[in-house]
Amino acid sequence: MPEKIYPRTNDFETVYLKSVISNPNIVVGDYTIYHDFVLDPVLFEKNNVLYQYPVNNDKLLIGKFCSIACGAKFLFSSANHTLKSLSTYPFPIFFEEWNLDKKNITSAWDNKGDIVIGNDVWIGYEAVILSGVRIGDGAIVGSRAVVTKDIPPYTIVGGVPAKTIKKRFDDDVIMKLLQLQWWDWPFDKVQQHLQQIMNGEADQLWL
Ligand SMILES: CC(C)(COP(=O)(O)OP(=O)(O)OC[C@H]1O[C@@H](n2cnc3c(N)ncnc32)[C@H](O)[C@@H]1OP(=O)(O)O)[C@@H](O)C(=O)NCCC(=O)NCCS
Repeated sequence: MPEKIYPRTNDFETVYLKSVISNPNIVVGDYTIYHDFVLDPVLFEKNNVLYQYPVNNDKLLIGKFCSIACGAKFLFSSANHTLKSLSTYPFPIFFEEWNLDKKNITSAWDNKGDIVIGNDVWIGYEAVILSGVRIGDGAIVGSRAVVTKDIPPYTIVGGVPAKTIKKRFDDDVIMKLLQLQWWDWPFDKVQQHLQQIMNGEADQLWL
């Protein structure tokens, strides 16, 4: 894949996400795009990946050929004030004030883990993905959904909390697409099969 930032001439609202990431805890696959018409899309790490504190070491893993719409947000564990405490006030973060040991700072929040997004996932406008969630290949997250639980492959979800709206294809087609993993094909092979992919000609793909 070319190392360019902007996939389209004169469009500075859309970036190849992989090309603008510098945080080693964020890994993005080839061709995945982010579009932002409000803020600079180059600032995805700052504006869209929230509460991913280095001390907690959680990862954001995003596959290939995903489409991430404007304002989608990824909220990490450090946003979760611990519910084990009698208070939701994050005392461990203010260790100096309360004479606490700095090394226990991560006890301020409940850890839910990494966020893992598969390949060919479309995340709608202003959707929110919470820590610990895994989204399967080919899934769609509707606009303004709040995703609190894992989403199976090729499933469309929407709402708060996000619930299944429907599957994108019949189970046999989904199974075959998951076997094919076309997103891992070399560029020339994807190019060769582009019409079948774009026209939904699933049966032609595995001839
Ligand atoms: C989720 C989505 C893909 C579903 O598309 P669709 O299959 O054509 O959906 P329909 O309009 O047929 O709606 C199907 C059902 O889902 C519901 N629904 C649709 N979008 C929803 C959303 N974002 N949140 C909650 N429910 C939603 C509809 O109300 C309908 O419910 P019903 O069956 O009870 O009547 C689409 O509505 C959406 O949110 N797209 C994201 C658009 C976007 O953010 N684009 C950004 C630029 S890339």
